[in-house]
Amino acid sequence: MKKLLVPGAIAAAAASMALFTLGAAPAGKAKPGAVVARGKYLVATSACNDCHTPKNMGPNGPEFDMTRELAGYVAVKMPAPPASSGAWPIHANGELTAWAGPWGVSYSRNLTPDMNTGIGSWSEETFIKAIRTGKHMGVSRPILPPMPWQVYSQMTDQDLKAIYAYLRTIPAINNPTPDPAPPPAAPAPTKKK
Ligand code: HEC
Repeated sequence: MKKLLVPGAIAAAAASMALFTLGAAPAGKAKPGAVVARGKYLVATSACNDCHTPKNMGPNGPEFDMTRELAGYVAVKMPAPPASSGAWPIHANGELTAWAGPWGVSYSRNLTPDMNTGIGSWSEETFIKAIRTGKHMGVSRPILPPMPWQVYSQMTDQDLKAIYAYLRTIPAINNPTPDPAPPPAAPAPTKKK
C-alpha cells in the first residue's frame, strides 16, 4: 500500500511545486530582475541614449559616454543657435542633447533617478502618462521635439513599466537640465521683458 502511495505523493509534490512557481511569477507579471532586463534592452534599442546620454566626440562622430548614462544635456557655454529657417530649420549640439528649431530650444532631460535633477521623484504612473500624452510629467506643457513620445506612446504598458523599472536602477547623476527656451519672439508687439 505504502509503495502505491509514493508516486501519488511525488505527483502531488510536483503539482504543488508547479503551483508555487506559477504563484511566484503569475502570467503577465514577470520577476523584477526580468522586468529590469527587459527595460535595459528596450532603452538600448529604442535610441534613448542617442539623445539622453552625453557624448564624447570620436573620429566618426559622437560616442556615448556611458559613465554618464542618460544624464541629459550637460551645460556648457554655448552661443545662441542659428535662426531656424530655410532648408536647415533644425540645429543640434555635438552631443545631440540640445536642439533648436521652430519650437525654440529643447534640452534632453536627465533620466537618472537623481531626486532633484533627474526623474527620481517620478512615479511609474507619471512616467507612463508623460510618454502616453506627450505632456510634461503627464499633465503640463507639451513635450517638445525631438523627443519621439509619439513613437514610444505606442509601446505596451508592460514595456513602459519595464523602461521605468530599468531607469530606477541606473546611477543617479546630479545634472540639472534647463527648461526649454521659447522661440525668439517673431513680430513682438510690445517689449514685455
Ligand atoms: C531624438 C531625441 C530623443 C530620443 C531618441 C529620446 N528622447 Fe526623451 N527627450 C528628448 C528631449 C529633447 C526632451 C526634452 C523635451 C522637452 O523639454 O520638452 C526629452 C524628454 C524626455 C522625458 C521628459 C518628459 C517630461 O515630461 O518632461 C522623458 C521621460 C524622456 N524623454 C524619456 C525618453 C526615453 C525613455 C527614451 C527612449 C525610449 C527617449 N526619451 C528617447 C529627446 C529624445
